[in-house]
Amino acid sequence: MPQLAYVNGQILPLASASLHVEDRGTQFGDAVYEVCAVLNGQILDWQPHRVRLRRNLAELGITLDIADGPLGLQARRLIARNGHQDCLLYLQVSRGTARRDHVFPADAPANLVMTVRRFDFAQRVRQLATGIKVITQGDNRWGRVDIKTTGLLPNVLAKQAARAAGAFEAWMVADDIVREGSSTNAWIIKDGRIITHPTGTHILPGIARDSLIRLAREAQMLVEERAFTLTEARAADEAFLTSTTAPILPVVAIDGQAVAGGTPGPVTHRLAELVWNEVARQTGWRA
Ligand code: PDD
Repeated sequence: MPQLAYVNGQILPLASASLHVEDRGTQFGDAVYEVCAVLNGQILDWQPHRVRLRRNLAELGITLDIADGPLGLQARRLIARNGHQDCLLYLQVSRGTARRDHVFPADAPANLVMTVRRFDFAQRVRQLATGIKVITQGDNRWGRVDIKTTGLLPNVLAKQAARAAGAFEAWMVADDIVREGSSTNAWIIKDGRIITHPTGTHILPGIARDSLIRLAREAQMLVEERAFTLTEARAADEAFLTSTTAPILPVVAIDGQAVAGGTPGPVTHRLAELVWNEVARQTGWRA
């Protein structure tokens, strides 16, 4: 079956789907996006994803002329037409196509594109047994990383540095504070407390992060939303990361130094049970 993409109301073969060369997403990174997990053909956490998308559009003053209901329907239609059960849905909204000029165009409608690609969620469950390694990088991003824009060059460079070092993720550090990963949120556990950077302008408010906080609190576990230092992370009992594409993965090394003896710990294991049970509750998916 050929891969299909959605472009401004039409579903087209991915190979021939395109935006104009003067799309503002390309020229200025003037675009926002969402990545949603789809398991058993069901979009996980669709409601918080669309709420975050609307917030980001509002922050940047981009008008998207499609209501939430039809947007969800089009996304589901694209998933079904591609015939995927387990995939990632990518959704991008740029300010539109216009002659290059920094000033907002007066009459350009936003460009909405969606793509899907197969994704092996079972691999993420298998990785729970071994955990993953992270390196650290300086956080040199702009001051509003809470807005999910396509301007991801620092994240791309950080992730590439991680891969070059044989690590899964790069944690972005500023003034010794661990903010988040290049595409994931960062967590540590100390004395039974589950600690992650507070929301604000320094991190992306991850949907997986939010979901984990809720699940942990419902299970009477202690969650602290506060900044933590790299020194604390190195001395943590356990560490892990969360995102749509890695719902929860134990971190077993930071910059080549073992965390928690270099093996996934019991609190992370318990949290992983909660996370994957929630996935099963919403979508029926099981590894
Ligand atoms: N990244 N922090 C950053 C910088 C991110 O880019 C992401 C998501 C997250 C986790 O957010 P969520 O739980 O909503 O996925 C945190 C997506 C998956 C990406 O860019 O591919």
